[in-house]
Amino acid sequence: MDVLTATLSHSDNSLFRSDVVEGLSRLQKTIPCRWLYDERGSDLFEEITRLEDYYPTRSETAILRACQPELRQFAGPGSMLIEYGAGAGVKTELVLKALAEPRGYVPIDVAREYLLQTARRMESRFPSLWVRPIERDFMSAFEMPTGMPVGRRVGFFPGSTIGNLDILEAEAFLSQMLRHVGLDGAAIVGVDLVKPVERLLRAYDDSEGVTAQFNLNLLARINGELGGDFHLDRFRHVARWNDAERAVEMHLLSLTHQWVSIGRRRFQFREGETIHTESSRKYDHESFGALAERAGWCVSQAWEDDGRLFCVFALSPRAGGGQR
Ligand code: AVJ
Repeated sequence: MDVLTATLSHSDNSLFRSDVVEGLSRLQKTIPCRWLYDERGSDLFEEITRLEDYYPTRSETAILRACQPELRQFAGPGSMLIEYGAGAGVKTELVLKALAEPRGYVPIDVAREYLLQTARRMESRFPSLWVRPIERDFMSAFEMPTGMPVGRRVGFFPGSTIGNLDILEAEAFLSQMLRHVGLDGAAIVGVDLVKPVERLLRAYDDSEGVTAQFNLNLLARINGELGGDFHLDRFRHVARWNDAERAVEMHLLSLTHQWVSIGRRRFQFREGETIHTESSRKYDHESFGALAERAGWCVSQAWEDDGRLFCVFALSPRAGGGQR
């Protein structure tokens, strides 16, 4: 199995440092959510997906189980599955099983260990599958490798990861996915739906406190990797609904007035001031359909779970083709 590796340096943490220093220098302190996922963070996220309060993973998995015949019909035989942000790949197996004799699988992820593990597992479960993992940030600009087997290309973007992107990023992402699969391609995108705020907030502030640990782990990571001196007990995890953005936001709230050092830099926190660490945007059929259309797609089918909490959208390139 060949792996396409991006020319990123993994050993130095200068990108992490500059994101943290720049983000903590803003009026609304913020740190990009990608830094939540170190090894401990990824393990904690896996734990979150099994929580009673966190419904998205369970709902999406139930949908993918229920819509297998439609999925097979939609994609057609001999397709090439391209997965963005492959992660642990539990849902991948469901989709590959649903497809009729899939020809290839191209997982894309920056988390090398997860990526290779998932690629190997799919290779052994589906022995005739052509597998080519790509070690990349799916939000960077890149092309599909040359020499891929011919087959209808189907982009797969599960988990409502699209909710972490702001509206322009989401549009750019969907446009790039269309370029990757081409005008005879297709896409399957998992999207968390707007619902009563109490239900949403419970999913991001669970009763077992795992999401709080997941969020606070970011401060532990800064301490460990960047020489920070955050006192974790002086911050509290909060989940907030941002109505204008239609997003659940995670923040870390400073419980006191305090100073924090990171290397030679010092940052002041007022009591009650927060660091914004993640936004999870929520869509309905109309807002997601409009987003998809702006990126050159149209919604072919949409499958929901019984509770109508989550939706898996099947997208086709818009008739007439191409983007506006
Ligand atoms: C993996 C980004 C889709 O936003 O629901 C879960 C991450 N954050 N609980 C989400 C997350 C807090 C999750 N995504």
